[in-house]
Amino acid sequence: MGFSVHWSWLAALSCLLCMGSEVICNCTDDKMQIEGGHYTLTKQMESGSMLIYHCPDGYYPHPYLTRLCQANGNWRPVPKRFSPQRCRVVECPDPNVMQYGSVNPPEERYFVGNETTYDCYSGYTLRGSSKRVCLPNGKWSGRTPICSHDSGDNCADPGIPAGASRTGDIFGIDDRVKYSCNGNLFLVGSKERVCQENGQWTGREPACYYRHTYDTSLEVSEAFGSSIKDSLTTLEPIDGIQTGRSIRIPKNGTLNIYIAVDISESIEETHVNKAIDAVIKLITKISSFSVSPNYEIVFFSSEVYEIVNILNFLDKKADLKAIIAELEKFKVGHKNTGTDLDLLFRTFLERMSIMKLRVGEKVFKDHRHVLIIFTDGAYNMGGSPEPTVAKIKNIVYMNHTGQQEDEESRENFLDIYIFAIGAEIFDNDLQKLTVGVGGKSHYFRMKDITNLQETFDDIIDEKEVKGLCGLHKDYETTGKDSTRKMYPWWAFITVQNDGPPNYCIGSLVSPEFILTAAHCFKFEDLPEHVTIEIDDGQGRVKQVKTFILHPEYNNKKKVAIGVKEFYDYDVALVQLKEAIKISNIARPICIPCTEETSGALKLVGVSTCRQQEQVLFKTHMERLNFLTKKGSTVALKEAHAKLGDNRGECIKHALEAPGITTLDPKEAVTDNFLCTGGLSPYRDHITCNGDSGGAVFKNYEHRTIQVALVSWGTKDLCKSGGGVVESDENSRDFHINLFRVVPFLKSILGNESQYEYAPLTFLSD
Ligand SMILES: *[C@@H]1O[C@H](CO)[C@@H](O)[C@H](O)[C@H]1NC(C)=O
Ligand SMILES: *[C@@H]1O[C@H](CO)[C@@H](O)[C@H](O)[C@H]1NC(C)=O
Ligand SMILES: *[C@@H]1O[C@H](CO)[C@@H](O)[C@H](O)[C@H]1NC(C)=O
Ligand SMILES: *[C@@H]1O[C@H](CO)[C@@H](O)[C@H](O)[C@H]1NC(C)=O
Ligand SMILES: *[C@@H]1O[C@H](CO)[C@@H](O)[C@H](O)[C@H]1NC(C)=O
Repeated sequence: MGFSVHWSWLAALSCLLCMGSEVICNCTDDKMQIEGGHYTLTKQMESGSMLIYHCPDGYYPHPYLTRLCQANGNWRPVPKRFSPQRCRVVECPDPNVMQYGSVNPPEERYFVGNETTYDCYSGYTLRGSSKRVCLPNGKWSGRTPICSHDSGDNCADPGIPAGASRTGDIFGIDDRVKYSCNGNLFLVGSKERVCQENGQWTGREPACYYRHTYDTSLEVSEAFGSSIKDSLTTLEPIDGIQTGRSIRIPKNGTLNIYIAVDISESIEETHVNKAIDAVIKLITKISSFSVSPNYEIVFFSSEVYEIVNILNFLDKKADLKAIIAELEKFKVGHKNTGTDLDLLFRTFLERMSIMKLRVGEKVFKDHRHVLIIFTDGAYNMGGSPEPTVAKIKNIVYMNHTGQQEDEESRENFLDIYIFAIGAEIFDNDLQKLTVGVGGKSHYFRMKDITNLQETFDDIIDEKEVKGLCGLHKDYETTGKDSTRKMYPWWAFITVQNDGPPNYCIGSLVSPEFILTAAHCFKFEDLPEHVTIEIDDGQGRVKQVKTFILHPEYNNKKKVAIGVKEFYDYDVALVQLKEAIKISNIARPICIPCTEETSGALKLVGVSTCRQQEQVLFKTHMERLNFLTKKGSTVALKEAHAKLGDNRGECIKHALEAPGITTLDPKEAVTDNFLCTGGLSPYRDHITCNGDSGGAVFKNYEHRTIQVALVSWGTKDLCKSGGGVVESDENSRDFHINLFRVVPFLKSILGNESQYEYAPLTFLSD
């Protein structure tokens, strides 16, 4: 103790001295410890450094979340001996605000893990949760319990959220209820709600937050996800049903997305880096939709650092890949102490104004704008951004108020989302800056943004996203479905007739059809001998209705000319008895020459098969992948298709295969095959027995396109079955190029004169 007093006295003295000569002093770590937790510093003990307290899950720092090192070497707020800094148990807001019912147990205060049950007085019925638990993020589980009786009012009793007070007890048309939060809680959501004619309340249910209350990644993913998906899909072509057949109606309009990440000193660098990762994930995931938004992406503190100007998108001069590369290498570097949040909004407003001038008022009317901002809201320069936000509303709403009564409501055309990050969040300032259609949450208060990347991923990979062939996760996740999410189209095929079973792999190409190799089936095989395994969450084993081989497949066709087994047109389609349930674990792969594949490849306007082929086979050495069985799941193999000048050398090794005595490799390997294998220039993986029929595919920005299927190879290098096996110098594999069998695929998958399944739309040429 004596030592510490002495030391701080010394520090104070040396500080007086350095103040005199205008040298800035350092703070000390004296009395800075936190009981039960630890702290981090943004700039060590230097002036301007922020000390951030951290506590384990279910606890929060008290009495302060942060402290700031001042130029005189003192911390602000000053640590007090009698109110030491410690980690307190998280508390949830008081649930004893419920009307016409009781809360058990009745307590003064409720902490993490405390359970409550709710009962209504007789004559009243309960809506919402009858049992709730106080969660580590400072919120109650479930939904607000409400005891109400049928009063004949137009709207249902909106209830009173925990910790809140409400004024307004009449729920007729146009009646208002107002909310406030008790004690040191603050309100998130709608302060005021109005009963509408349709029986719904405007806005969304408010909640009372402590400074230690946070939104979980699940809450964010649900709220932000449903909202952003609306923005993305309102511009997607919509499916309509016309006389029993589905038609696609293209929609007009442009989506502009403005993203900003706060890099000012008050936000820890790890948070900034995680926000950048999340932004990259968000824009790559958005690119899997068929809309191609324009982006403005900036970092800001007292200045705005632009990664991409949205006007370059307008001029078609921006390249998404280059932007992502630039984001990836962005370093926070030197930081300015100031933060000018208004400057950020003024920058966005200016971009909108220029855009409006450029495209004209009429076209600008079809532009939607989504602003996504990561900040703590601590601005110390430029003043409040509120007036600028009002101007942004005005330019987008085009003088319409955006109110319910306004007939030509343009509310849908502007969303401002705020992701509040950082140790100290300025909630009241930030909430005012969010804009969105009533009822949707646009304010997210995040403690830990570690999972934000995954949160953004889930948003767009949610189960209800249908009709996007080849959409998949491109990294491993935890959980047993990880591999299915990466290859949601893979299926195992077993053909069991007389004798040993025959194993193949197939790919889901529509909810009803599996594509595989014709040689998986023998002449005597019947549909009941075939089982398909594909786990769509509704059972793994699927029954087969029928299977159809390519009409020109004839294994014995060239025996007389020295090709014992001939595999040209080695393609088959297996029709299932029941359609697969499409989700993120079971989804079709894209196949050549369909409209969906043009969407996946971002070919705009009228596209052709040839264009698809050019995008997928750009070089004479294309890297491709295929799968191999590994236990009950699959492993990835890689090989390179030798095209153009490289093809001749590749296919000549076919002559080394057993059963081939012809001298012309083209007799065995027709133009319908792709050739892979060998060591040069890359050591390819080679196919094994059970790999037959599997998709040979290419990924294109989060979508998978099947370009071929595994047919046959020259050597069996796989010991005891399968696995990821490398090629030797002479081993080669041949795969049926799907671009060469489109008429067959189209005749079945695109058959429009049947009513059993929805046909795929093939391109006309
Ligand atoms: C403050 O600390 C920094 C290192 O964090 C050191 O370089 C500097 O000399 C210190 N300044 C004073 C006045 O002690
Ligand atoms: C509520 O939680 C606190 C802190 O964990 C605990 O001490 C208390 O016993 C709990 N109360 C009830 C009624 O379970
Ligand atoms: C979409 O734009 C095209 C040309 O720009 C126009 O002909 C068409 O009518 C528009 N469709 C809708 C639904 O606004
Ligand atoms: C909006 O109002 C401004 C000034 O009040 C006017 O100059 C502008 O023409 C109006 N725009 C529209 C689309 O009505
Ligand atoms: C398309 O479906 C109809 C009705 O089931 C059938 O008669 C016709 O043969 C099918 N076309 C082809 C090419 O299979």
